[in-house]
Amino acid sequence: MLVLGIETSCDETSAAVIDDEKGLLSNVVLTQLKEHEKYGGVVPEIAARSHLHYIDNIIKQALEEAQISFKDLSCVAATGGPGLIGGVMIGVMSAKAISMAHKIPFLAVNHLEGHALMARLTNDVEFPYLLMLTSGGHCQILIVEGVDKYKQLGTTIDDAAGEAFDKTAKIMGLGYPGGPKIEQAAKDGDANRFKFPKPLCKEDNCNFSFSGLKTSVRLQVEKLTSEDHVLKSQDVNDIAASLQKTIADVMVIKLQKAIDIFKAKFPEGKDIVVSGGVAANQHIRDAIDILAKRNSMVFSAPPIKQCTDNGAMIAWAGMERFKLGLIDDLSFAPRPRWPLDS
Ligand code: KG4
Ligand code: ZN
Repeated sequence: MLVLGIETSCDETSAAVIDDEKGLLSNVVLTQLKEHEKYGGVVPEIAARSHLHYIDNIIKQALEEAQISFKDLSCVAATGGPGLIGGVMIGVMSAKAISMAHKIPFLAVNHLEGHALMARLTNDVEFPYLLMLTSGGHCQILIVEGVDKYKQLGTTIDDAAGEAFDKTAKIMGLGYPGGPKIEQAAKDGDANRFKFPKPLCKEDNCNFSFSGLKTSVRLQVEKLTSEDHVLKSQDVNDIAASLQKTIADVMVIKLQKAIDIFKAKFPEGKDIVVSGGVAANQHIRDAIDILAKRNSMVFSAPPIKQCTDNGAMIAWAGMERFKLGLIDDLSFAPRPRWPLDS
């Protein structure tokens, strides 16, 4: 069985082919970073135009690398939302056209389900498992009971963790996307120099709130610049390390609450999965790995390069859905908002 997956919901134009026996055959990812960098964030119209310009070639390249042609495909899956609607429409339209022209089923995959199931492609993860889904737009803890069976234990009430990285990096002039820049700066920083707030951590729930971090960082930057007139690179490194540690600490505290709930419901469940762009952060991976061991659980996350958006996660989720007969109609309308547990 061969599945083509298409991802266009944000600033990566990507297509991938998965074989149910041989695994991932190709995963072509074109990032638009350069096009958005000067604006300090993703500009939806620029993203949509870029997807439109490149999508056909990216799909062609994915098929060539997999050494197959359209006629070999069993089905085609595309991100159907949530995301920037212009981009989602381009991916969905491309997949529908392939579906019609080659008479193969079409699947609309929830982007979050792509992140949620990806670890089952790259790691040996079985249902049910506990998932920390952390990206630029989402920060949720979920129990994944099966394909299409998600129970949300908590979510952010304001900014996502990736957003906190992006916004604080912007304040410090580190550029976009903030996560990798903060991680890099943090390598030479003192994580104990600054104390940033950990909102909601005393509350007995699995919800997050990260929007206060950008205000704290801004105030700290203003204080340092008023004292020294410039923000020294050591200051930036120390803020980055302290911020990264704060975010990891909050995730560990909230995940411990979630583990207790998960274990009570599924004593046989053993896996903790972290996925989404922020799962590329080594400090966060290490912190959650330690937490997993402390709870006699197994930590899994996709390889760092496959944490950020890519076609493979959509092809994989598409394959999982296809095997269960969960195919979609060509009347499917792209969904800018699409909660995973709806
Ligand atoms: O999953 P993703 O590629 O796109 C969305 O679905 O949002 O995630 C992008 C987010 C950005 O906020 C980016 O700053 C963050 O993931 N990110 C990281 C790292 N790499 C990407 N955050 C922390 N550390 C990283 N190494
Ligand atoms: Zn994503």
